Amino acid sequence: MTMRDAAEAVRRNAYAPYSNFKVGAAVRGSDGVIYTGCNVENVAYPEGTCAEAGAIAQMVAHGVTRLTEVLVLADSPLPVAPCGGCRQKLAEFGDPQTQVTMSNLQGTERTMSLAELMPGAFTSAHMENT
Ligand code: THU
Repeated sequence: MTMRDAAEAVRRNAYAPYSNFKVGAAVRGSDGVIYTGCNVENVAYPEGTCAEAGAIAQMVAHGVTRLTEVLVLADSPLPVAPCGGCRQKLAEFGDPQTQVTMSNLQGTERTMSLAELMPGAFTSAHMENT
């Protein structure tokens, strides 16, 4: 199973009745296993969760706290980009060099590292005086 196949499969289960924008995410844990998540919306809109958050939660629930690659997939004209909050969540478990592939159903893909996606990111280094 490829990262793309995994994201495509989980995307079918996305619960997105409000935006109608279904997203699937796959992250590969440091154990080599692919963990997946889809967006889960809520009538109280801010309570919805992104696909990346779901995939990270599944990985951590399996006892794995490092990820080595990420793929996000949606039916978007441009390859779907992780939102700012998800970039921060991915950075918690990945390295600056971790590759994030953004993709769409047409098969267009764009890959960037977490460092490229998060210039000037807030990290634990900022808390070293505490
Ligand atoms: N969404 C994700 O799940 N991941 C992203 O990277 C971008 C946005 C979801 C949140 C919401 O359910 C819908 O897409 C529209 O914003």
